[in-house]
Amino acid sequence: MKKPKIVVLTGAGISAESGIKTFRDAGGLWEGHDIMEVASPEGFMRNPQLVLDFYNQRRRQLSEVNPNAAHFALKKLETKFDVQIITQNVDDLHERSGSKKIIHLHGELTKARSSIYPKLVYEIGVKDIHIGDTCEKGFQLRPFIVWFGENVPLMEKAVDIASKADIFIIIGTSMQVYPAAGLINYVQKDALIYLIDPQIPDIAPRENLHCIQKSAVEGLPNLVDELLE
Ligand code: OAD
Repeated sequence: MKKPKIVVLTGAGISAESGIKTFRDAGGLWEGHDIMEVASPEGFMRNPQLVLDFYNQRRRQLSEVNPNAAHFALKKLETKFDVQIITQNVDDLHERSGSKKIIHLHGELTKARSSIYPKLVYEIGVKDIHIGDTCEKGFQLRPFIVWFGENVPLMEKAVDIASKADIFIIIGTSMQVYPAAGLINYVQKDALIYLIDPQIPDIAPRENLHCIQKSAVEGLPNLVDELLE
């Protein structure tokens, strides 16, 4: 028998209890930087060294953090459900907790891409990117991150996945960044939606929406156990 489909949209909040800071909880600064300074093509043009250093630090941080109980709870869901994760996070904690189907809407820290040819992408693990590191065509490498103002190449795939959800779970995202925040609009009317966040974001009310005002680690393992019963 086909397993029911659970689609999970995650944001920075699911990794908060692993020790990775969220973007908008610290007064608009991301690890001390204006987001546009470190997450836009203009910021990279203005100061490539600063942007590379910034993501080199984020990448190094990956070796100091571990998946938490919320990440592992999503893995556990796979015993009874067809689970597809759509994450806005660039960390690799869903992979490290064993989840099978993951798409990274905003890119991945553990990859680098050519600054000129977006399709030239390289696995780099937690290694740094330096000025002078180039793609096979000789152009500077940059972080494999979807910056503000850039296309979200996996969006179409994400819309298709969201539209097939029997259950849609949203965890730890302020729902402020589009197009990702618009995915909820593609979820079928009769699908159940759960939202877990200590600060419930301001989204349009709709039938079948259940808000759980808790942290990911407090709220998700319980919800998963209920769904598995
Ligand atoms: P935000 O920082 O905007 O929102 C984080 C959300 O997590 C907020 O709603 C918090 O209330 C919630 N939160 C905080 N602690 C939590 C916890 N312990 N458990 C559960 N939730 C918690 O992060 P995102 O919505 O992910 O893009 O941001 C979206 C995008 O904006 C990011 O992917 C990033 C950023 O610019 C890029 O880097 C391209």
